Order: sequence, then structure tokens, then C-alpha cells
Amino acid sequence: MAFWTQITTIFFFFIKTHLFLLFIINSASSQRILNTESTSNPTTTEDCNNRWIHIRNLPSRFNLDLLSNCSEYPIFDDFCPYLANHGLGQKTHPKSRSWYRTDSLLLELIFHRRILEYPCLTNDPNVANAIYLPYYAAIDSLRYLYGPDVNSSFLHGLELFDFLQSDEPGIWKRNMGHDHFLVMARPAWDFSQPLSNDPPIWGTSFLELPEFYNVTALVPEGRAWPWQEQAVPYPTSFHPQNLAFFEAWIQRVKRSRRTNLMLFAGGGGIGATPNIRRSIRNECENSSISSNNNSNSSSFNILEKNGMYSKICDVVDCSNGICEHDPIRYMRPMLQATFCLQPPGDTPTRRSTFDAIIAGCIPVFFEEMTAKMQYGWHLPEDKYAEFSVFIPKEEVVFKGLKILDVLMGIPRSEVRRMRESVMELIPRVMYRRHGSSLGLRTKKDAFDVAIDGTLQRIKDRLANVLDR
Ligand SMILES: *[C@@H]1O[C@H](CO)[C@@H](O)[C@H](O)[C@H]1NC(C)=O
Ligand SMILES: *[C@@H]1O[C@H](CO)[C@@H](O)[C@H](O)[C@H]1NC(C)=O
Ligand SMILES: *[C@@H]1O[C@H](CO)[C@@H](O)[C@H](O)[C@H]1NC(C)=O
Ligand SMILES: *[C@@H]1O[C@H](CO)[C@@H](O)[C@H](O)[C@H]1NC(C)=O
Ligand SMILES: *[C@@H]1O[C@H](CO)[C@@H](O)[C@H](O)[C@H]1NC(C)=O
Ligand SMILES: *[C@@H]1O[C@H](CO)[C@@H](O)[C@H](O)[C@H]1NC(C)=O
Repeated sequence: MAFWTQITTIFFFFIKTHLFLLFIINSASSQRILNTESTSNPTTTEDCNNRWIHIRNLPSRFNLDLLSNCSEYPIFDDFCPYLANHGLGQKTHPKSRSWYRTDSLLLELIFHRRILEYPCLTNDPNVANAIYLPYYAAIDSLRYLYGPDVNSSFLHGLELFDFLQSDEPGIWKRNMGHDHFLVMARPAWDFSQPLSNDPPIWGTSFLELPEFYNVTALVPEGRAWPWQEQAVPYPTSFHPQNLAFFEAWIQRVKRSRRTNLMLFAGGGGIGATPNIRRSIRNECENSSISSNNNSNSSSFNILEKNGMYSKICDVVDCSNGICEHDPIRYMRPMLQATFCLQPPGDTPTRRSTFDAIIAGCIPVFFEEMTAKMQYGWHLPEDKYAEFSVFIPKEEVVFKGLKILDVLMGIPRSEVRRMRESVMELIPRVMYRRHGSSLGLRTKKDAFDVAIDGTLQRIKDRLANVLDR
């Protein structure tokens, strides 16, 4: 496989820069896994009708070369440490079985690695139902977003387009790009700068280019009125490799004592301007002050009456990205909390929504853009009332509604049912480790759900195009 030869070259580069001996070993062994399992994998006998995917062969400048300068992107952090384990990052601890220091920027690499073990791959683009472009779009965008090419951000993607038109142009022409898809591991907002902005304000124009209108982009956050893109879950740090590790986690989530009513893990809300994060901080600080000092306060009464909670509210301060590669900081508190607050920040979505689900902590949303308008494939829209709480942010920020009062008003039996619904979602929002056991492969994970959704979307699209 050419991909693996290239990856090995890259690895030697890493060795040269004394980075990843481990990375090499891993890749060699997973290649072995791939080779043996492609013959013995029962899923290869599964019906591949209408499910064939062709991986477009792209020059390495569109993917692997972009990883080789992982420490050289100006302004942006060095992301070399997160390349380990094919983009899952290093394990949180040498003995950890399922937990990694995962950076969501590497979803492009994670996805690429996973699609290599998809059972219905075809070398023949003419029989493919979808064409995957292994282009690391978000990593390539760094040079426009933060680097020397900031003033030519409207060029992002054109080089790829030229390649697709000149190298085997028939693959594109067959369906005018409508069957092509790729992953872009940053919010769509970062790729949708109108071409008319002069001077540029923020973002590349990849999603604004007519050249790419027909292509499906999988992103962690879509726009309010998306056209090309569909949102898929941010990768969390949980990547089990077999059923036993997965079940062990589920048992832990199930048994965990939820002694804290609500938790906010995040930053912001420090300034003076009213916003939802600030309201949450105030409410949390006041609840802990009064429960300690004023025995007549409402939160004290709640603790007394309820008996279940020893704490009303907890804030895990994740300012300046300190939690990002350190899941222990927030996963333990999430296991101990009943509700996890998901206020919008710089953008409406949060990786934390998925961390909370993995921890069996019921998400509390403050606007529809945080999840309901985004993750239709992974979190069914008609089930939100069953697995989450919605409190409009305006009510809290401007009308004095207390989050605490809303959450305390939910009967205990209802809370239990909600937690069960959250736990049912865990497989759908996790990205299991590549090369995982056949037993675990029987559960559809975030990748599998994304592939199903993409195939369906492309099928519908082609039916529409042909109709006209
Ligand atoms: C990455 O390396 C290539 C070749 O060495 C160089 O041309 C390119 O500018 C580098 N990109 C960044 C962002 O450093
Ligand atoms: C981009 O353009 C602005 C305004 O013309 C200029 O001040 C800036 O130096 C340019 N940046 C780069 C990296 O060329
Ligand atoms: C996108 O599809 C439309 C038809 O639906 C076609 O007219 C157009 O040329 C396609 N765009 C590209 C860049 O292929
Ligand atoms: C909560 O605390 C903030 C400052 O920490 C204060 O301005 C506000 O009045 C307090 N609210 C209540 C209900 O005590
Ligand atoms: C509340 O009580 C704690 C000790 O229980 C004390 O340290 C703190 O200063 C008190 N806060 C207020 C606002 O009285
Ligand atoms: C406690 O609350 C009650 C009403 O809920 C009020 O009548 C009483 O004065 C309060 N006592 C103190 C010490 O604040």
C-alpha cells in the first residue's frame, strides 16, 4: 500500500528528529493487523451494495507532507506530540488502555487511518458510490489562518482542485464532484470567508469556492445554513480497542456515584460583559458560598432535602487550553456529576459535549446551535428531550432564571432515564481505536455513523442531480 510506504518515510523523518519510535512500531503492527484481517474479517462478506468507497490517490503534499512540519506552523502550537497512534495521540499513561491525549485537529488523520479498514473499499472509481479525498484540509489551512499565506486565503483548495481536474479527470467528471467527500477538522466558520472580503478578515474561502460546492465536507461544527458540510462529533480521548475495554468503561460510568449536581468544565466568563459563561460562574460561586456559610439558603436546603448530592456546582477551570490534552482533569469530575453544562464560547459547539456523553453526564444546552442543529446523524434530533436539557441562554443571562432551579426541578426517576439514554449514545460518539477487535466492530462508532450518513447523503444528492 503506497500510503504505508509513505508513512514509513515520514516516520524516518520523525526518527531523525527523534520523535516517534513508538509511532513506527505501531504503524508496522497495525499494517499487519490490516493485512491479516482483510482476509479473515467477517464484515468483508457484508453486503457492499451501494456502499463502495474509492480512496482518491493524492500526492503526499496534500496529506503526509503536511504532518512532517508539525512543529513549524507559525503562531500555532507544535502538534507533533499528537500524531502518535495515527492521530489519537499518546496514551494518557503507559498503562492506560483506552485513553489518549487526542487533539481534535487530527480528526483528518484519524479518519484516514480508519477508512483504510473500511470493508467496502474499491480500487475502481467507476464502481464507487463515494470518493474519499484524503486531504488534510484543516492542517493545510494553518498556513492561511496563522501563517505566511494569510493574505491569499482565497487560494485554499485550488491546488487540490487543479490536481483533481488534471490527474484522471474522469473521476471528478463522472458525477461533477457530487460523490466526493473529505474531512475538515475545524469549524466551517474557519473555511467560509466570502471571496469578496478585501482585506481578508478571518478564515480561508475553501467552502465559498464554486469549485467545491458539490463536495461533502465533514466538520466538527457546521454553519447555521450549511450547504456542503455536515457536522460529526469532535474526537474525545476515549478510543477503546476491544469489547472488554469498552464494557469496562460502561460499567464504570454506570456505577459512578454522582455526588455533584452540575459541572462546568471550560474557560471564559471572567469579564464584565453579561454572557452565559459568566452567569454560570456566578451561579456556581454563589451556590458554594451559601452552602458553606448560610444555612438558610436555598442551595443548602436542596442539599439537605435531596441527600443525594454533596455539592451543587463544580467548575473545572480549563482556561488557556490546559485541559485539552489532559482528559483526567475533567473526566473524573464528569463521572461525579449528574449534569454537564455546555455553554457556547467563541463558537457554539464544544468538544466537551462529547466528553460529557462518554462520562454519562447529561448535557445541558443553552442554544440549539451547540448540538441540535449540528449532529443530526449522531445525535437524533427527535431524542433531545430524552438525553439532554435545554435552557435558553437569554432566560439565564437576562431574566434571572437559575439553572439550579431548572435542574433540581427534574424528578429523580426522570434523571435516571435520561442518564440511560445518554449512555446508549456512547458508542455512536466515540472513535474506537483503529485495528480494534471484531467484537467491538459490531458496534457502530462515530466513524461508522459518519460513513453511513455520507453514503446516504451522496446517494440522495446524485438522485437529485440526475433528476434535473
Ligand atoms: C513545510 O515544509 C515545506 C518543505 O520543507 C515548506 O515548503 C513549507 O513552507 C513548510 N510549511 C510550513 C507551514 O512550515
Ligand atoms: C497581509 O496584508 C496586510 C495588509 O495589506 C499587511 O499589513 C500584512 O503584512 C500582510 N501579511 C503578510 C503575512 O503578508
Ligand atoms: C457542480 O454540479 C453542477 C450540477 O449540479 C455542475 O453544473 C457544476 O459544474 C459542478 N461543479 C463543478 C466544479 O464540477
Ligand atoms: C452572585 O454573585 C455575584 C458575584 O459573584 C453577585 O453579583 C450576584 O449578585 C450574586 N447573586 C446572588 C443571587 O446572590
Ligand atoms: C464561608 O466559609 C468558609 C469556611 O467554611 C470561609 O473560609 C469563607 O471565608 C466563608 N465565606 C464567606 C463569604 O463568608
Ligand atoms: C430563613 O428563611 C426564612 C424563610 O424561608 C425566613 O423567615 C427566616 O427569617 C430566615 N432566617 C435567617 C436567619 O435568615
